[in-house]
Amino acid sequence: MQATAVAQPNIALIKYWGKRDLPRNLPAVGSISITLSDLYTEVAVDLMPELPADTLLVNGTEAPSMLARISACLDRVLGAQRPRAAVSSTSNFPIAAGLASSASAFAATTVAAAAAAKLPLTTAELSRLAGAASGSAARSLFGGFAELSNAGDTIEVRPLRDIESWPLEVVVAITETGSKSTSSTKAMEISRLTSPFYDSWLQQQEHDLDIARAAIEQCDFAGLANIAEHNCLKMHSVMWASRPPMVYWNTTTMRCLQTVRRLQGEGCNVFFTIDAGPQVKAVCLPGEVERVRRALADTAGVQAIMTSSLGQAARVVARRDD
Ligand code: DP6
Repeated sequence: MQATAVAQPNIALIKYWGKRDLPRNLPAVGSISITLSDLYTEVAVDLMPELPADTLLVNGTEAPSMLARISACLDRVLGAQRPRAAVSSTSNFPIAAGLASSASAFAATTVAAAAAAKLPLTTAELSRLAGAASGSAARSLFGGFAELSNAGDTIEVRPLRDIESWPLEVVVAITETGSKSTSSTKAMEISRLTSPFYDSWLQQQEHDLDIARAAIEQCDFAGLANIAEHNCLKMHSVMWASRPPMVYWNTTTMRCLQTVRRLQGEGCNVFFTIDAGPQVKAVCLPGEVERVRRALADTAGVQAIMTSSLGQAARVVARRDD
């Protein structure tokens, strides 16, 4: 039995950083994201009882270092007595480089595994299972704007707004293609245990979420820009003040921020956000995308540019019974 699913990464505008319950992967703060359309991960899960162990290909190459996390994800979806699986994942963007590849990879793996085993799971159930593998993956089970809650005993995501009603665009400036030095999972724990700013980060998050939710509700771009940049810089301040410090930025990251500031000074509707990596995501109104793309492409050190509209939820694209 085999199924293939596609999921798009999502970019948090109000960030998830910190865990309240490590074993269950419950987030310490709520977060709000937008799911993208043009970046994707496609995952095929082939359930093969005769296989002695799971196998994993990432972009055509064996990836033993990522296998344990994928196997654990399959155990959660299918149960520990499940057949072994051959998993193959392909992404059209650099992975493990702060572009939310774990979100799209675990969302697609969860959806493909459930489809391969013909499990009739709801979106909420799939989202919980994906979120147990990687918190941000829970959000990729939804299209458009979504909010991951930090309340209750389970991972809960709710859609805030669909993609047609407020069609934002995202320009991603790739400043470095290598893998990041510290995984988000590990870095979040270091922040929780050592950052002097961690407690204020937790305390202020509800306020940031309220402002962002209202801005999204009213299609208030300036309001969303303001709170998203503030929340992003606050998360990075928590990281920078951790011990050891986690500084994911490089010189080009900073130059891209300056480019965005210059564009804003010229009246362009754009704002930046940065995750646990050196890439800069510039969110803008549809009419500005070409201008933003050109300005970031002309920024010294930028290696590549990807542009994307807002996208749909993770979904099954093929299924086969052997
Ligand atoms: C900075 O979802 O990768 O991108 O649950 O440990 O897998 P785990 O973390 P992950 O963290 C994402 C962190 C972030 C912010 C965000 O996406 O909200």
